Amino acid sequence: MSELYTLAEATMKVIQDRRSIRSFTEEPVSEEHIQMILEAARQAPSGENAQPWRFIVVRDAETRKALGTIGGGGSGRRFTAEFVTKKMHERFAGLQDEEKKKAAFEKLTSGNVSAFLADAPVDIVVCGRKNVWDLPYDTSAAIENMLLMVTALGLGACWVIAPCIDVRDEERLHKLLQVPDDIKIVSIIAVGHPTRPHRPRPRLPLHELVYNEVWGTPYYKEEA
Ligand SMILES: Cc1cc2nc3c(=O)[nH]c(=O)nc-3n(C[C@H](O)[C@H](O)[C@H](O)COP(=O)(O)O)c2cc1C
Repeated sequence: MSELYTLAEATMKVIQDRRSIRSFTEEPVSEEHIQMILEAARQAPSGENAQPWRFIVVRDAETRKALGTIGGGGSGRRFTAEFVTKKMHERFAGLQDEEKKKAAFEKLTSGNVSAFLADAPVDIVVCGRKNVWDLPYDTSAAIENMLLMVTALGLGACWVIAPCIDVRDEERLHKLLQVPDDIKIVSIIAVGHPTRPHRPRPRLPLHELVYNEVWGTPYYKEEA
């Protein structure tokens, strides 16, 4: 029983310690660690056990540079769309400091967010078979497994969707990585050694997330 509890605690620690890491040292990720990350992905659940995921391990500097350019552009366009449709203003409504708000808008729309794919020593491109219905869920399960293994290994990673949103970027990625048309490129996971520790991003409290038996009935008697 206590051994089981220790395992549960260790698992929770890995889950809670995971952060999105966007700046990396130049230290390479060892082949042994890459194997463990890929094995974690392979063990993920998938609808009907279809295992539609496929992975491309990218270490080549030129290719990573191109991924960074496509990722930066994708982020820039996405956040610009958010900005012009005023969605970004809603998102930052709680931030009173106008200067900080302006700086955040500028940073997000700059085209630099997600460009860090170029700087990570390895990018793992997550692809999948388009004809599998549950592809987005299946690959998400695989990616989370990878992120947790990355954390357990003391490495850092970021799940990056920015280069995989716009059809024009999709075409660019397919060409760059020679991916066939029946395969979707879902996300790219930047992996490396973090340059510094990161504070956790805030999470909503459980009492705002969980209902009892039916929607709307609080599960928690007191704030959790
Ligand atoms: C589906 C998905 C897509 C994401 N895409 C990007 C991305 O394109 N660029 C980026 O910098 N971060 C991306 N992230 C990371 C999120 O911004 C991050 O998970 C979130 O801010 C919470 O921070 P944390 O991961 O450190 O807890 C993505 C995360 C998820 C789950």
